[in-house]
Amino acid sequence: MANRSRIIVTGGMGFIGSHTAVELSIADYDVILVDDLSNSDISVLEGIKKLCKTEVYFENIDLKNRLACFSIFEKYDNIKGVIHFAAHKAVGESVGNPMKYYDNNINVLLNILYALVNFDIQNLIFSSSCTVYGETKDLPVTEQTEMKETASPYGKTKQMGEAIINDFTVAYPTHNAISLRYFNPIGAHPSAVIGELPLGKPENLMPYITQTAIGLRECLSVFGGDYNTPDGTAIRDYIHVVDLAQAHVVALNRLIHNLNGKSHERFNLGTGKGISVLDVIKSFERTSGVSLNYEITKRRKGDMEAIYADTELSRSVLKWEAKLSLDDMTRTAWQWEQELRKKKE
Ligand code: UD1
Repeated sequence: MANRSRIIVTGGMGFIGSHTAVELSIADYDVILVDDLSNSDISVLEGIKKLCKTEVYFENIDLKNRLACFSIFEKYDNIKGVIHFAAHKAVGESVGNPMKYYDNNINVLLNILYALVNFDIQNLIFSSSCTVYGETKDLPVTEQTEMKETASPYGKTKQMGEAIINDFTVAYPTHNAISLRYFNPIGAHPSAVIGELPLGKPENLMPYITQTAIGLRECLSVFGGDYNTPDGTAIRDYIHVVDLAQAHVVALNRLIHNLNGKSHERFNLGTGKGISVLDVIKSFERTSGVSLNYEITKRRKGDMEAIYADTELSRSVLKWEAKLSLDDMTRTAWQWEQELRKKKE
């Protein structure tokens, strides 16, 4: 058996984690997926294994338990880095149940950092979010844009996560980290073998669209038609999950090959394009041929009017940019939804 470098992917059974595992395999890494399956399904493993040409290991572990967390680092050798996705991510839920978010998102990160020190693993990629910018009016947002207070405990765990990692890299200078601030990842793998798998009623736009189109939901509510935007609906920077996954491999290789400029770097991952909710719906209707049942309703509490990325830093420093279009995103999301339906039949 080849002695390939191994990468631990926490939350590896999730939407972004599963796509990143596949890209790591293409880059010739073995992957160790660690997930407690609290927001994912074991069936995802089969899909990941189908798409990976390298070894895929799976550990069903709750990383809040420090000993269990350490046990993975003890079990496997040749670990070159950790990509840390494992976290709760529902903005609304975090407002109603803040302790769940602080307990999980912060304690798990701390356990990972302790493990990095204990087992002398130098490289960490952290799953951050554009939510760290808070209610900003400075558009597009650059990595230097001042972080405003964020309304949700979920957002605060991402701000705190970055701050904790920063202190960590100051205290342990041989350890390096990159925080990747995602905008809105959507779409699915072009094979339709893996994709987004929301448990229960989706909170996010794209799975709600595809579930409505396939008949699982009656009607999509477009939250707010009175924003100060060209068509009145809110603007986001949607990015294809495969583009996003590839950025993780680029960032990880940057750390592994000591190409990073600072011990903790932060990059926006978006396309730089502001897309409205109606733009996404139009693209979906174009690529699927389905006419979507939707209605404009009142604004969702806590939603921002508009946010999109300045992508200059990731382009010039990380040497990465998103390649796939909005139509690629809606097309692959639809293919995945149809595949899911076939599996259930
Ligand atoms: C939010 C978070 C992001 C988090 C993500 C995952 C912020 C700024 N962003 O993204 O960090 O990672 O959730 O949970 O906090 N919409 C509808 N109808 C729907 C669903 C959504 O109109 O049924 C609209 C929303 O109002 C929004 C857009 O679609 O304008 C995107 O919403 P969503 O997919 O939920 O993502 P965000 O809220 O942008």
